[in-house]
Amino acid sequence: MTSEKIRKKFLDFFKEKEHKIIASGSLIPDDPTSLFTSAGMQQFILYLKGEKDPIQDFGSRHLASCQKCFRTADIEKVGDETHLTFFEMLGNWSVGEDSKIGYFKEGAIKLALEFFCHNLKLDKNRFWITIFKGEKGIPRDEESFLIWQENGIPEERIREFGIEDNFWGPVVETGPCGPCSEIHYDRGERFGCNREDCGPNCPNCQRFVELWNLVFMEYERVKKEDGSYNYEKLPQKNVDTGVGFERLVAVLQDKNSAYETDLFLPLIQLIEKNSFKKYPENKKSFRILVDHLRASVFLISEDILPSNLDRGYVLRRLLRRIQRISKILELKDGWEVEPIKWIIKKYQKVYPELRGKENDVSIVIEKEREKFEKTLAEGLKHFEKLIEKKTEKIIKGEEAFFLFESYGFPLEIIEELAREKGFEVDKSGFKESFKEHQKISRAGVEKKFGGVGIEQIEKEEDKIKAIRLHTATHLLHQALRKVLGSPKTMVQQMGSDINPERLRFDFSFEKKMTSEEIKKVENLVNQKIKGDLEVKKEEMSLKQALEIGALAFFKEKYPEKVFVYSIGDFSKEICNGPHVQRTSELGEFKIKKEESSGAGIRRIKAILK
Ligand code: SER
Repeated sequence: MTSEKIRKKFLDFFKEKEHKIIASGSLIPDDPTSLFTSAGMQQFILYLKGEKDPIQDFGSRHLASCQKCFRTADIEKVGDETHLTFFEMLGNWSVGEDSKIGYFKEGAIKLALEFFCHNLKLDKNRFWITIFKGEKGIPRDEESFLIWQENGIPEERIREFGIEDNFWGPVVETGPCGPCSEIHYDRGERFGCNREDCGPNCPNCQRFVELWNLVFMEYERVKKEDGSYNYEKLPQKNVDTGVGFERLVAVLQDKNSAYETDLFLPLIQLIEKNSFKKYPENKKSFRILVDHLRASVFLISEDILPSNLDRGYVLRRLLRRIQRISKILELKDGWEVEPIKWIIKKYQKVYPELRGKENDVSIVIEKEREKFEKTLAEGLKHFEKLIEKKTEKIIKGEEAFFLFESYGFPLEIIEELAREKGFEVDKSGFKESFKEHQKISRAGVEKKFGGVGIEQIEKEEDKIKAIRLHTATHLLHQALRKVLGSPKTMVQQMGSDINPERLRFDFSFEKKMTSEEIKKVENLVNQKIKGDLEVKKEEMSLKQALEIGALAFFKEKYPEKVFVYSIGDFSKEICNGPHVQRTSELGEFKIKKEESSGAGIRRIKAILK
């Protein structure tokens, strides 16, 4: 069965069972504290918490989707049989069991068994089940244990595990979560080991593959004042399920790994044509290449660009690793053009945002290649010299950090290089060097909160000038986001510096701004100044601030209570002020300079006349 057919079967099945099919959410989640969407439930969090009504928004409490996901946690393991960065997750939801029309444990278990056994003809005798054994004050999932048995799974094929394995969520620190029950598929003795207790979650072998995770979401993890966590009951019960699509395809196509299925193998073969190196002899390299390329196509199609910040940095890591591997496989520049087309063609029906992006993706990859080309070669030389002198097979933290800092080598490239030569990298030492470096640039970070140091300006007249420029900075920030792209593109504040004479604003953006764009931004700011908008300051919880869409800076630690400054309905930012009361106090805004301020960062200097 082709992967297309499997995906379709899943969605058709749930449609028949009166589920509303919801298109995949973005890879960029709404919640600014998580970097990427890594589970199908993320676009439904507010519904699962009972804060939004699914009937009102979707016309149903029963939902299903095929969600694109991205996880960075195992990026260095990609290349083996199971790990991927980008993947798809099939899922179904029942939101709010109390409505009487919803389903909970029994409904979810029956649906999963019906789809697997009846529609996909998987052999039920190969199913092993895991349930939650009870821990941390949350009781054992007795109910699921009985339901599985009533539905034909014998007790000896049901195993129980604790919080680690059978309690799912939340995606970030806090949020909806609950005990889960999983269907594992027994691939047969030849994949097994000799452990007496070999079974699902066996630490020794890959005989059992987890196929379907059924989460019975009735808890919310909340953070207490002392920093510890509490599991509180949600106002409603929900079902949240997830099937790792690539794994399911591998099982149904009877392959050991997703890389051997129709999702990857034709792509590998296409690339192989341009290389003297062959698959599977060079298995790991080919696999990393196709995984990272597919992931990059999806990230770029959502307007993410390589940079040194957050998501942009993840993309940069993928692209740089692709570049190094393309050298190992002796691929000529431009090798990626056909593979990109292949990927887009394969997925564009399900993810229409990919349509027509072939060129954009090629250009981004090519630009990044140009950027890294020279430092890659120099860094490799430096690495060779470094290990020549070594007596111990270890790359020290500061040595790894030097490769990172000076040559732009992401950690996983350094580790890969080291491994190839039989060396290890002192990862914790690397992290320490990194932290040390961050401390040094802390001053810059503090300015991000709008702590512009206005209090320290002595002359009252100068203070007023700086306050005006501070409000202008907020207008500029929003205008840049409006003119240069949606908030999903990487226009993000990277730094701000204000003195009585001028403002200086650093933001992430890949290209030099055109004079047209500069003009547009300037005009927009001036239009808002002329509009005499009111500047309002409100105190609220951080959560509320994020919910109303106030700009916040990813991963910064904010206090529980924050101030939000809004300018009319044009701009909202978490900020400590101070600001003017109305925009008409600002005068005329003029951009004096637009220049680079590091890789992927632009700097604007502007004044008020
Ligand atoms: N949220 C659960 C998971 O990601 C089930 O979809 O596994």
